[in-house]
Amino acid sequence: MKKIVYLLTSAVLTIALINACKHEPISPVTTTPPPVNGGTSEVCFQSQILPIFQSNCAKSGCHDAASHEEGYVLDSYANIIKKGLRPGDANNSKIYEVLFKNGSDRMPQAPNAPLTTEQKALIGRWINEGAKNTINCGTSCDSTQFKYGANISPLLSTYCLGCHSGSTPSGNINLSTYAGVYNVAINGRLVGSVSHTAGYSAMPQNASKLSECQIAQIRKWVTAGALNN
Ligand code: HEC
Repeated sequence: MKKIVYLLTSAVLTIALINACKHEPISPVTTTPPPVNGGTSEVCFQSQILPIFQSNCAKSGCHDAASHEEGYVLDSYANIIKKGLRPGDANNSKIYEVLFKNGSDRMPQAPNAPLTTEQKALIGRWINEGAKNTINCGTSCDSTQFKYGANISPLLSTYCLGCHSGSTPSGNINLSTYAGVYNVAINGRLVGSVSHTAGYSAMPQNASKLSECQIAQIRKWVTAGALNN
């Protein structure tokens, strides 16, 4: 009798131990991504997400229509939601997970710079909100505001740094530092390229022109001396 009780007890204990050792797969996400734009409002695909994909992923040799690495084309809403994305579930979306990997598994791959913490959180939030094709939203552009820190630098971060940062920036133009931006501000190339003036390469490359308000902010900032303000 004693022996049976002993056997039963050890069986129960063993099962309990085995279960205790099972852990959840390590999640690449820090629980809920922090709110962005101070807001509870929905992430806007058109103005907040698409430009990040276009400038960081839909590049030649990576995920533009011609290159389609691993079958991913990340240049439009229809293509972005096609593969590796589960609406409502960022943690099980490949497109999101790879942003947090290390080494050559990380996207964007070196020598491209990784996305910023804010950009990753924004993509996570957008997927968790259902990965909807929200358009004509989230653009709180005020053309009377044109400070480098508050307006110009965030704009360049969303639309330009995917190509113009890292160790081999496109056109050898690095827009991730004030010095780099100042350089193209004073030689006229910044305004020339974003306003699609003849004689300059139209920027952002392979994407829609910036809004008139955004272009006005850049133009006014340059005209006022391109200050580091
Ligand atoms: C998808 C990649 C990509 C993105 C996104 C991009 N650029 Fe470029 N950019 C390039 C490449 C490649 C060149 C060099 C070849 C050329 O001039 O077309 C370049 C050149 C430039 C030049 C020099 C143009 C000239 O005529 O001398 C400026 C200025 C510039 N980019 C600014 C920007 C700004 C500002 C943004 C964001 C609003 C931006 N770029 C977004 C790829 C990109």
